[in-house]
Amino acid sequence: MGKIVAVANQKGGVGKTTTSVNLASAVALEGQSVLLVDLDPQGNATSGLGVDTRSVRYTVYNSLIKNAAIDLVRVETAVSGLSLLPANADLAGVEIELAQEDHRERYLKDALGELSDRYDVIFIDCPPALGILTINALTAAKTVLIPVQCEYYAMEGLTRLVSSIERVRQSFNPDLSIEGIILTMFDSRNTLARQVAEQVRAHFKEKVYRAVIPRNITLAEAPSYGRPGILYNAASSGSQAYIALAKEFLAHGEESTRERT
Ligand SMILES: Nc1ncnc2c1ncn2[C@@H]1O[C@H](COP(=O)(O)OP(=O)(O)OP(=O)(O)O)[C@@H](O)[C@H]1O
Ligand SMILES: [Mg+2]
Repeated sequence: MGKIVAVANQKGGVGKTTTSVNLASAVALEGQSVLLVDLDPQGNATSGLGVDTRSVRYTVYNSLIKNAAIDLVRVETAVSGLSLLPANADLAGVEIELAQEDHRERYLKDALGELSDRYDVIFIDCPPALGILTINALTAAKTVLIPVQCEYYAMEGLTRLVSSIERVRQSFNPDLSIEGIILTMFDSRNTLARQVAEQVRAHFKEKVYRAVIPRNITLAEAPSYGRPGILYNAASSGSQAYIALAKEFLAHGEESTRERT
């Protein structure tokens, strides 16, 4: 059975979407079948994969709220082995539409249903908030992958996120665990960035990936061409870092499978 991984951090602009798109692509290019769920009304993962958010007929919103079949919503991408459940601004309505519903944290889990049997990995790109959408992602997921930008308030943000993960684990999803922490947009010339990276490693230890994503122009430019960085320019330092991350991610998965058996 495939693994469902929420890519989450309530802080905005830390590299959630860039990580979702490039890691999902790199894992697919390693031969895995991968689904990326865009759970952000901004639709950045959708447009970053070359799908026009205005012209898509059905989005993840239709699956969540209208029970639309996943097969109606899913689109194939330019990356072989990577499918997408697109999002657009409609998804912003979910917060209000579900406000009075019972079990409102379960809508994504129910919509995904048995889909994890059909994919090796399902990534969920979360919005920058700890609202109902992110809670849905954390309820549907097996693990959480946390992109962290090495800035002054990074540790405070991480502490808040970890306690939210803990709350969801206690209330809705006893199996939820942290997949790993990935340092993003790293600039080794920046002293503060190096210090924050050390703090994060000291605190989260082996949960922090050895691969570090550098600040890299390919990763910033690629979305405007509707392609993942690793297709747009595979040789760039940013693409190479995501390819290294994919290998580490897959190796971790094998380790934890061995632990269970
Ligand atoms: N390693 C990188 N090098 C250079 N630019 C990057 C890198 N990672 C992300 N960016 C750029 O930084 C911005 C924020 O990244 P991204 O959209 O991935 O963050 P996010 O956490 O998904 O944001 P949001 O919270 O709004 O969803 C984007 O313009 C993206 O292209
Ligand atoms: Mg994003």
